[in-house]
Amino acid sequence: MQKKLSHSLVTNDKYEIEIPIIGLGVWGMSKNKTENAVKSAINTWYKHIDTAQIYKNEEQVGKAVKERKDIFITTKLWESNFGYEKTIEACERSLSKLNRIDLFLVHSPHKPKLRKETWEAMQYLLKNKYVKAIGVSNFGIHHIKEILSWAEIGPCINQIELSPFLQRTELVNFCKANGISTTAYSPLTHGIKINDKKLKKISERYKRTSAQILIRWSIQKGNIAIPKSSNKNRIEENFDVFNFKIKNKDMELLDEFEQEFITSWNPTIEP
Ligand SMILES: NC(=O)c1ccc[n+]([C@@H]2O[C@H](COP(=O)([O-])OP(=O)(O)OC[C@H]3O[C@@H](n4cnc5c(N)ncnc54)[C@H](OP(=O)(O)O)[C@@H]3O)[C@@H](O)[C@H]2O)c1
Repeated sequence: MQKKLSHSLVTNDKYEIEIPIIGLGVWGMSKNKTENAVKSAINTWYKHIDTAQIYKNEEQVGKAVKERKDIFITTKLWESNFGYEKTIEACERSLSKLNRIDLFLVHSPHKPKLRKETWEAMQYLLKNKYVKAIGVSNFGIHHIKEILSWAEIGPCINQIELSPFLQRTELVNFCKANGISTTAYSPLTHGIKINDKKLKKISERYKRTSAQILIRWSIQKGNIAIPKSSNKNRIEENFDVFNFKIKNKDMELLDEFEQEFITSWNPTIEP
C-alpha cells in the first residue's frame, strides 16, 4: 500500500527536499476559479499546487496559499522569459505573486540557443535561494544530456505528459537512472480517455473511478501526479487514492494501453 505522501527530490549533492506526490494542476483555470479551487484543495488534503507563468493565475494561487507555509508551490519559466537576465527577472515577478517558490521549472526545451544561459540562471536562482529546487519540463533525453554535460547542478525533476496511454518508458527510465524524478502532467489525459471502456472495466473491479485508477497508476509507477480539476468533489476524489493498490496483473493490463497518446504539445522531440 502506498502510504508515503511525498517523495525526496535531490536538488544537488547536499540538499534534499520533499515533494508531495499529488498536486493540484491549475492550467486553464480562470482567475476567478483558481483561488476557490486552490482553497478547496488545501482545505482537504493537498499540499502541492502546480502553476506556471503562462497560466496567468500565479497571483490567485499566491493569495490562496498565503497563510499556508506548508504548501509546496511549483511554477514554470515561460519561453518568452528564456535568457540569463530575463530568467532572473521573471522569477522575481513570479515570486512577487506567489511569495515563495519551492520548485522552478524551465517550461520547455524550446529556443535551443538560449538553453545554456537559461539553465545557468536557474542554477543562480537555486544557489541564491530564490527557489528551493530547479528542474525542467517537456525535456527529451537529448535535452537532459545536453544540460548534464556541463551543468554544475542538474535538474531534479522532469515534468512530462504521462498516462497509461503515453508511458514514455525510455525517457522515464533515463530520468530515473540519472536521479531525476518525473512528474506526470495531464495524468487524466486532459479528461479525453476518462470514459475508455477498458479503463472503466478495471475501475469497476476496484469500485473506484477511472480518474482514481489513472492517478493511482501514476504514483505506483513512481511519478508525482498533478491532476487538474476546478470542481470541489472531483478535487477530493482525485486525492482519495491512498487506501487501495492496483494489483500487479492490472498494472500489466494498464501497461497494454500504450498508444503514444499526446493531448497537447510534445516539445520532448524538438531539436
Ligand atoms: N508542463 C506542461 O507543459 C504541462 C502541460 C499540460 C498540463 N500541465 C499541468 O498538469 C495539470 C493537469 O493536466 P491537464 O490540466 O492537462 O489535465 P488532466 O488533469 O489530465 O485532466 C483535467 C480534465 O479532467 C477533468 N477531471 C478532473 N478530475 C476528474 C474526475 N475525477 N473525473 C472526471 N473528470 C475529471 C477536468 O475537468 P473539471 O475541472 O471540470 O473537473 C479537466 O477537464 C495542468 O493543470 C498543469 O498544471 C503541465
